[in-house]
Amino acid sequence: MPNSLIDLRDWTSSEIKKLMDLSFSIENESLQSSVKSKLIGLLFFEASTRTRINFEVATAREGHQSFLVSSSLGTSIEKGETIEDTLDNVLAMKPDLVVVRSDENFNQKDYFAHQKIPMISGGWGKISHPTQALLDIRCLLKQGLTYEQIKIVIVGDIKHSRVAHSHLTLSEKLGYQVAIVCSDFALPQAPVKRFENLQQASEWGNVIMSLRYQKERHEKMMTNSDYESFQITGKFLDTWKKQGFLMHPGPINYGVEMTEETRSYTKNLILSQVESGVWIRRAVIRQLLKDNS
Ligand code: CP
Repeated sequence: MPNSLIDLRDWTSSEIKKLMDLSFSIENESLQSSVKSKLIGLLFFEASTRTRINFEVATAREGHQSFLVSSSLGTSIEKGETIEDTLDNVLAMKPDLVVVRSDENFNQKDYFAHQKIPMISGGWGKISHPTQALLDIRCLLKQGLTYEQIKIVIVGDIKHSRVAHSHLTLSEKLGYQVAIVCSDFALPQAPVKRFENLQQASEWGNVIMSLRYQKERHEKMMTNSDYESFQITGKFLDTWKKQGFLMHPGPINYGVEMTEETRSYTKNLILSQVESGVWIRRAVIRQLLKDNS
């Protein structure tokens, strides 16, 4: 296995499937494993609720201890220190594993490549969010779909989404299918099957994955026409012939990418995704610590 999880391209299909299997076997264990306690640094230089708390819970459930930096505020980054220097200092204190979320100005891939301890990306700008893509797929496996049966339509702000970009990589590794539907404003550079409208896309896919419009990463102003015809509504879900699964990595801006009525859709998996994240992150932490013990 690779030393770190930053880019799913570095992992083979069989390594990823082994990780997926591990996450299911952990779910069948008693609550806390008996491994020797390690020290895990959780360094979130960008805002997060799900990923950060998932990693805190996963760390605790694995029987490890963690220390948390939940923002640049309160660190010496406020005084001009770089993320790289901050991490160098944190690593000098000898944690056993570190999770990092940052924007793309900090090159996670280059930095991680030079470290001796395992490093996990908790999200990197709009480039990648490997554990989110893994937890999404685990969530669908848990619903009984096989990799070959999964056909995800990603809807909304694909271009600025690290989750969408990680799915493009992971789908090639695991053999599931991904298509997109979005306005030209949100069109990514990466080649991917694209539908003209939501109706056509929903006839093809059995999973709709809505995404937040990530204004903090937009180069220009978005207009209402950029999102209105891609909004997931209760009416759309009621008339969706396939009655497939609804997903969203969160956070959700209700009234923009989805309406409030979507909360009551019977195949809404949004909170199941959050639960799935704990199993996946426990598996990644356990596997990387085992490989580096
Ligand atoms: N899905 C996700 O990454 O959510 P957070 O930004 O809350 O961690």
